[in-house]
Amino acid sequence: MTTQTVNRLVGRRILLGISAGIAAYKSAQLARLLKQAGCEVRVVMTEGAQAFITPLTLQALSGEPVRTSLLDPEAEAGMGHIELARWADVILIAPATADLMARLAQGMADDLLTTLCLASEAEKVLAPAMNQAMWRHAATRRNAERLAQDGWRLLGPASGDQACGDVGPGRMLEPEAIVAALIQAPSAAVHGQAPPSADAPARGLHVVITAGPTREPLDPVRYLSNHSSGKMGFALAAAAAELGARVSLISGPVNLPTPEGVERTDVETARQMHAASQRLAAECDIFIGCAAVADYRAEAVAEHKIKKTEGEDALTLKLIKNPDIVADIAKARDAAGGRPLVVGFAAETRDLEAYARDKLERKRLDMIVANDVSSAGLGFGADDNAALLLWRDGDGEGGANLPPQPKTELARAVIERALGCLASRPVH
Ligand code: PMT
Repeated sequence: MTTQTVNRLVGRRILLGISAGIAAYKSAQLARLLKQAGCEVRVVMTEGAQAFITPLTLQALSGEPVRTSLLDPEAEAGMGHIELARWADVILIAPATADLMARLAQGMADDLLTTLCLASEAEKVLAPAMNQAMWRHAATRRNAERLAQDGWRLLGPASGDQACGDVGPGRMLEPEAIVAALIQAPSAAVHGQAPPSADAPARGLHVVITAGPTREPLDPVRYLSNHSSGKMGFALAAAAAELGARVSLISGPVNLPTPEGVERTDVETARQMHAASQRLAAECDIFIGCAAVADYRAEAVAEHKIKKTEGEDALTLKLIKNPDIVADIAKARDAAGGRPLVVGFAAETRDLEAYARDKLERKRLDMIVANDVSSAGLGFGADDNAALLLWRDGDGEGGANLPPQPKTELARAVIERALGCLASRPVH
């Protein structure tokens, strides 16, 4: 998708909502940057947000009185809440806590901010911020998905150190990144969502992608894993989102930020990735298995750290097979009669085409992206990749060689090919 370089924020009316997270202190900088970008800014704070930062700070930075209460006769006499809802071109909530997301997902209007969200037809954007376990919780995942379906654009969260001492996803994106994302977004009508673009061939489609490695524990401190960095899968997620799809990314442990607009579920083991895939693939159009999933796991995970045994030079571990994620999705697709299109990867060190054709057949895939992971500078961990694409669609069988190139570009070609396969499939 061609990104607009014009600053679409000049003259826009941003209603900045702040809820009760420690990241609220960053909202002061966000208000300042939005003003610098040329926006009119009005701030609404929840009751809890005021425990983290004072309305006076935001008033000084926005140059406007800050609204905190729905039942404030004095404020309502100035600009009533419905008027304020109509005033906004964009409602941006940063930070958005788990509680606020839950209330928004339910369509509640139990304070000024949620009431404004319900009453406004403005473009809606939120930057989640919460503890990593809260972000990973199934309830928050459901709420995030529901909000995305309702037209909310989610920016982040980022991964990293958290104020509570945890490490993981849940940090609010930095104010600079939020403003950059708002500037780069395709232009939208002053009130309402962005119009469908001819440059968004995946609009209306739901794409689910697995990425990164899995970790199979042996004991409380050791695990089996591989060298996947997640770069290929994350590039696919970014490309699919840029082409207009709703994207769910199921990621093993990696150190990468979530691509903009992408819904992310973090997992560790193959079985967790399998469960998340089963849940999300049930209602998707394209499923892409890019993760390097461990084929085997320890039959029994030791409760305590495995100790060396005096006089024994070898340790025997019994490994058992993990479920095959893409094969199970393809099997369910056949049983259900056609959805989703299933795309697998093949990581090979020799006989690329022969092994890829075997996986395409054996796992009943619609398309396979075969990469030679023994080439220096390509495959695992690298920024570049090359691939042989093989597919079967309504027009028969096809193939294409994609030469070495940045993973971001290769990802775009893979998504476009998958869209081609989907379009040519017979309707069931
Ligand atoms: O993450 P990067 O550092 O960017 O590296 C990218 C990559 C090399 C990991 C990626 O391009 C790639 O090749 N991913 C697939 C790796 C892999 O596990 O390949 P495989 O040939 O073992 O598996 C074949 C297919 O079955 C894959 O789609 C895999 O996701 C899937 N699979 C495998 C085992 C299993 N239990 N469940 C699966 O779904």
